[in-house]
Amino acid sequence: MRVSRRKALVYLGVAGAPVAVRPVFAQGERVKVADLTSLAPLKPVNFTYPDENSPAVLLDMGRPTYMGVGPRKSIVAYSVLCQHMGCPTSFDPERRLLVCPCHMSLFDPSRGGLCLEGPAISRLPRILLQVAEGSVYAVGVAYGLIYGRASNA
Ligand code: FES
Repeated sequence: MRVSRRKALVYLGVAGAPVAVRPVFAQGERVKVADLTSLAPLKPVNFTYPDENSPAVLLDMGRPTYMGVGPRKSIVAYSVLCQHMGCPTSFDPERRLLVCPCHMSLFDPSRGGLCLEGPAISRLPRILLQVAEGSVYAVGVAYGLIYGRASNA
């Protein structure tokens, strides 16, 4: 079900009030990440998005996953920079989690990058994906700022 922004604001009781709305989604450049045929379940594919200063990871979780794309709706991608102090997280296939080596925060790529254990308190920003012509493309960033950036653009 689609809810218009106006209806959502009415529902939240803020329609008519001056509100500074920060975009949740940042549409970005379309960048090819991988061919579908090159992906294997739980084998991370490292890439950068939206530029070379922002490491990210593409994961085929091997089963339908929240906001997953692809034939099995199993493919997701996240900025790997920890929301605590910016260390790059890495994927642990045994636990199916992104783990920060600096202070051991845990993030769940199956649940929208949710932070399961701190000291980080925010989820990892999700890289928006699109599948076309047998390839996976990054097309934007959703839910939060990539660590250390003033904007996801
Ligand atoms: S930088 Fe990741 S937990 Fe501190």
